[in-house]
Amino acid sequence: MYLGLDLGTSGVKALLMDGEQRIIASANGELQVSRPRSGWSEQNPQDWLNATQTAVAGLRASHPAELVAVKGIGLSGQMHGATLLDASGAVLRPCILWNDTRSHKEAAILDADPRFRSITGNIVFPGFTAPKLVWVKENEPNLFAQVAKVLLPKDYLRLWLTGETISEMSDSAGTAWLDVGNRRWSSELLASTDLDESHMPRLVEGTQVGGVVRAELAASWGMGSRVVVAGGAGDNAASACGMGTVTPGSAFVSLGTSGVLFAANASYLPNAESAVHTFCHALPNTWHQMGVILSATDSLNWLSRITGKKAADLTQPLGETLRAPTGVTFLPYLSGERTPHNDALIRGAFVGLEQETGPVEMTQAVIEGVAFAIRDNLEALRSAGTELARVTAIGGGSRSVYWLKAIATALGTPVDLPADGDFGAAFGAARLGLIAATGADPVVVCTPPATRSTIDPEGDVMSAFADAYGRYRRLYPAMKAA
Ligand code: XUL
Repeated sequence: MYLGLDLGTSGVKALLMDGEQRIIASANGELQVSRPRSGWSEQNPQDWLNATQTAVAGLRASHPAELVAVKGIGLSGQMHGATLLDASGAVLRPCILWNDTRSHKEAAILDADPRFRSITGNIVFPGFTAPKLVWVKENEPNLFAQVAKVLLPKDYLRLWLTGETISEMSDSAGTAWLDVGNRRWSSELLASTDLDESHMPRLVEGTQVGGVVRAELAASWGMGSRVVVAGGAGDNAASACGMGTVTPGSAFVSLGTSGVLFAANASYLPNAESAVHTFCHALPNTWHQMGVILSATDSLNWLSRITGKKAADLTQPLGETLRAPTGVTFLPYLSGERTPHNDALIRGAFVGLEQETGPVEMTQAVIEGVAFAIRDNLEALRSAGTELARVTAIGGGSRSVYWLKAIATALGTPVDLPADGDFGAAFGAARLGLIAATGADPVVVCTPPATRSTIDPEGDVMSAFADAYGRYRRLYPAMKAA
């Protein structure tokens, strides 16, 4: 038996998987986000431990015998968060999370130092870890002076599980301190933020052993004496392990609150200018590229909120036959945008409204706007050397056939839908737990799910979509100037 623990933003998910990769059960522990000031987003690390206890207790209640048989645990987690510990290992302040934008000025200053893009292969985005430490140094200097270790959220969970300060490549690539091509900390970048390697955890690959569960904790969970903890992965790389997106040419599009277009690469292919994220994958000698849009299903949720209609009621009148775009264009920049614009200040827009425009046309425009934002991400990945022949869709938005048709047509590639199942980050983490515990070949373990159906681009409306995408592309520079 293997356990995947995914420390998300809204909760911890614990998933139990057997040696044949069958999912036995899963359980959750909830988390809240605290937003004490505008742009701030924090969590108390102790809450992660409590939520993990709740999730594992849920599994223990329903599957005690299976928990006894757990041999390996894999960790996945929300990326980029800064968990600050003093020399005694005590937490110094609430963790500053990935979606906290307080350090956008510090991020811009670091990003203007050319060493960051050249060594990390990425823009220093406001959500990344390094600018958060610069903010702490400037705004909480007494606290900064006490910082002995900086840990990502799932690595704090590991410290509690194993007593060891260890991280792995995929999550560490999102700190802006990793030499991503060489898979090691950059002492030069650390020094430029007044830190050094002693502040960082030791690095392993996501598939390697990264600690053993403390005997006392294992006993309290009814587990055996040697339960290994895999290096694990940041949540996107962990989802990719669950989806089998580990070899070149494979890719997924995730339609969640935010949207992600993720492609696996056999080599390090940075292109920071395109605002593509180039990170280490959880597998050795493997990297990945990722475009991130900040408002995917969140765009439809916004329309739902302001119209007072449920998202499903908004999309229902569209039916399942893809329509040619009307003259209405929606820019989904409700929270700014990462890829391809790296623009925290840009905001969304509806353009081309007329007397006849109603909620149906506006819903259609929102769906198309998100599809065009994903096409922008495909172009960004292309400019970074990645060609994709097809993508697999996951996430809540992938339940809408209309949305998938719009995405297939906007991208000009088939979109595959996986057979029913749970292929998320917790499953990917459990797979990493299995690999670390058994030494199995990662590529043999991380296979893609069966395809339930494939949605092809709709030839009849392809050229209307191409025209509408052209209009969409021309609007960002105009909005930026406005
Ligand atoms: C990735 C990112 C998010 C978080 C969310 O760069 O910021 O996907 O990992 O959990």
